[in-house]
Amino acid sequence: MDSLAAVDWAAYEQQALSAISGDALEDARVKYLGRKSELAQALRGVRDKESGMLLNGVKARLEAAVTAREHQLELAARRAAADSGVDVTIPGTPVTRGRLHLLTQIRREIEDIFLGMGYEVWDGPEVVTVWENFDALNTDQGHPSRSKLDTFYLDDDTLLRTQTSPDQIKAMLTRTPPIYMVSPGRVYRRDTPDATHSPTFQQVECLAVDRGITLADLRGTVQQYFRQLFGPDRDVRMRTSFFPFTEPSVEFDVTCFLCDGRGCAVCKHSGWIEMGGAGWVDPDVFRTVGLDPDDWQGFAFGFGIERIAMLRHGLPDLRAFWENDVRILGQF
Ligand code: PHE
Repeated sequence: MDSLAAVDWAAYEQQALSAISGDALEDARVKYLGRKSELAQALRGVRDKESGMLLNGVKARLEAAVTAREHQLELAARRAAADSGVDVTIPGTPVTRGRLHLLTQIRREIEDIFLGMGYEVWDGPEVVTVWENFDALNTDQGHPSRSKLDTFYLDDDTLLRTQTSPDQIKAMLTRTPPIYMVSPGRVYRRDTPDATHSPTFQQVECLAVDRGITLADLRGTVQQYFRQLFGPDRDVRMRTSFFPFTEPSVEFDVTCFLCDGRGCAVCKHSGWIEMGGAGWVDPDVFRTVGLDPDDWQGFAFGFGIERIAMLRHGLPDLRAFWENDVRILGQF
């Protein structure tokens, strides 16, 4: 090609090297090595080995010179910065990434488990009527939980819910059975905070209303829930209990996942861990929401959420959840 013959490549290389050693490094690179440079054009036209070797040699030497010059300029820039009092070698301030609160993580996990079993996830209000929190749930006038010493009343008719069970009532009033719902959320009770008591904590309510379901379905559902949370070898048991809105009422225990039921400090050497209340929807509750108890059956349970986090991570103090010390919360 013409340019190959026309160009004095030794002179080209000298000019390029001197331009590269100047301050306008990028301009020099574009001019002598860029796509439109004489060198690049000549290389595209090369047909014989000898010219190829000659031009590739020029190219390799110029590229090496550019790299070397880059390092030199960078070093000079750092020195200049250091002289001006800026030390570019000091590590930057790390930007810490935010994360979901441990209880939010667990709540979402619980929602996932129930979604997987075909349940609908609800988010009920924390301010409810006295009727929803107590009357509709068959709780008689003299029940101690109604006391102003135990419950945060906003006025005579409204309060901060003491349990997620009012969502059962809302679900049955607004849905036509069959109903399969879970509702996780915050509840409030007057309590002096300590390691195991808190004026606010979270529960997950579960309600199933259908035809032809039995206590075995309740047991199976709870077992599946705990197996997903604590591992496939967990077993559950029911103990008789009392709640005004379920009959019969039970308390669920799960085999200790730390000692496998052999007995340890976490399960207080019983092999079982208490998880919360459950039961068979009381016919009176069905009547209150306008469902025929001869036609429909149902079960419900309400289990604590903090407890799951505490057991799983060996957390000794409930207060850690709302004191919001990122040194603790950041570990999960
Ligand atoms: N609401 C009850 C509690 O707070 C738990 C519960 C829910 C019991 C549903 C039975 C059925 O202790």
